[in-house]
Amino acid sequence: MTLAPNSPEARDIAYHFHAYTNAMAHAELGPQIIDKGEGVFVHDNHGKRYVEAMAGLWSVAVGFGEERLIRAAEAQMRRLPFYHNFAHRSHGPAIELAEKLVSMAPVEMSKVFFTNSGSEANDTVVKMLWYRSNALGKPEKKKLISRQRGYHGVTVASASLTGLPNNHRSFDLPITQVRHTTCPHYWKEGREGESEEAFASRCAEDLDALIQAEGPDTIAAFFAEPVMGAGGVVVPPATYWEKIQKVLRKYDILLIADEVICGFGRTGRMFGCETFGIEPDAMVLSKQITSSYVPFSAILLNERFYQPVAEESGRIGVLGHGFTAGGHPVGAAVALENIAIIEERGLVAKAAETGAYLRERLAQFAAHSLVGEVRGVGLIAAVELAHPERDDLAPGALGAAMNRLLYERGVISRPILDSLAFCPPLIIEKPEIDLIVDAFGDALGALEAQEF
Ligand SMILES: Cc1ncc(COP(=O)(O)O)c(C=O)c1O
Repeated sequence: MTLAPNSPEARDIAYHFHAYTNAMAHAELGPQIIDKGEGVFVHDNHGKRYVEAMAGLWSVAVGFGEERLIRAAEAQMRRLPFYHNFAHRSHGPAIELAEKLVSMAPVEMSKVFFTNSGSEANDTVVKMLWYRSNALGKPEKKKLISRQRGYHGVTVASASLTGLPNNHRSFDLPITQVRHTTCPHYWKEGREGESEEAFASRCAEDLDALIQAEGPDTIAAFFAEPVMGAGGVVVPPATYWEKIQKVLRKYDILLIADEVICGFGRTGRMFGCETFGIEPDAMVLSKQITSSYVPFSAILLNERFYQPVAEESGRIGVLGHGFTAGGHPVGAAVALENIAIIEERGLVAKAAETGAYLRERLAQFAAHSLVGEVRGVGLIAAVELAHPERDDLAPGALGAAMNRLLYERGVISRPILDSLAFCPPLIIEKPEIDLIVDAFGDALGALEAQEF
């Protein structure tokens, strides 16, 4: 690849160290530079338009270029561009948003703690769990259970909770307190002749056995996404959540629902917990809370979680935790406006309807020779590719090839090994879904014609 030395691509290679990128390959391949967006579309710096079928990183709920969010941010910047919530200080947007989130929660919640990213929020929950166990006089109750292929972020504790090898390798993770249990992916993990419900029971039995092996009094909490996102859009089998919660209740283990992707309509209900009948002790919210126009995250805690933490801060004299920008007034103002848009425009019901259409159309490929599984719920879906004869192919080879073919056809998806994920903005209309699915069909034909 020859690039003009002053081109944005050459400057990117020269100066920009990318997240989730092979740095050595980047020097060869260069960046794809996205310049602007409107609705469900983005444009690259050469003027080519793409359907953003991943809503950025599962996050731009109301689409790109939403004027109301721009105005909300501007108005808040003019009034109070920054303030914090340390040492009893507060401001209007944080108060209003905390009240709003507690009122929206599907189970009774008590308080909201503000952070800036999903990772920060999960790390904060871990620290609060440890603080709580100490407050309760149970210093041994510190271990955390999450799931293989679960995704909870990349900071030290969050990356440890994440159950993906590339988040641990060479980072000296996970930390010693974390254990991972079975991934509830029936198509992959289910055994010959095992029904979906029997598989769900086995997942719960695995969890129970792990808790027994570790010692029930040593486990503080179980972290899980209602639907796994970055691990490959894994929708749990029927009865999974009911059975898992029964185990957690038996041992008095707190349940932390990581709603960073599921929250605010993605699964066809306002929260993933509603879709799956989950009754969490804490909910972690981010991404769609502001449609990612501004970095923002929040933790909702119930009284059982909050009260011992509050009392411990009283004994010590302060809760020694907080982020400069946590509950940032601009983020809080944008979150309030974004939630108002989601509610006023009925985007949750819309996601349920257009999501059903997307999944129905993708299901047309289920019998294709290169397709292993089509799965999803609400407006989040994945198609997992599998070559019928070539089990020597490197994991991810088909996914990467398909992702390139889709990109050439003006669709931005995300390959997760050999699964192609789809998680478009909640505002997407059926003709725009047709653009995605038609491109997918065309790309699948092209993939079939390729030599592997
Ligand atoms: C379920 C879940 N939790 C946590 C995170 C981490 O969020 P962030 O990238 O904002 O740190 C993500 C990010 O994709 C996520 O999907």
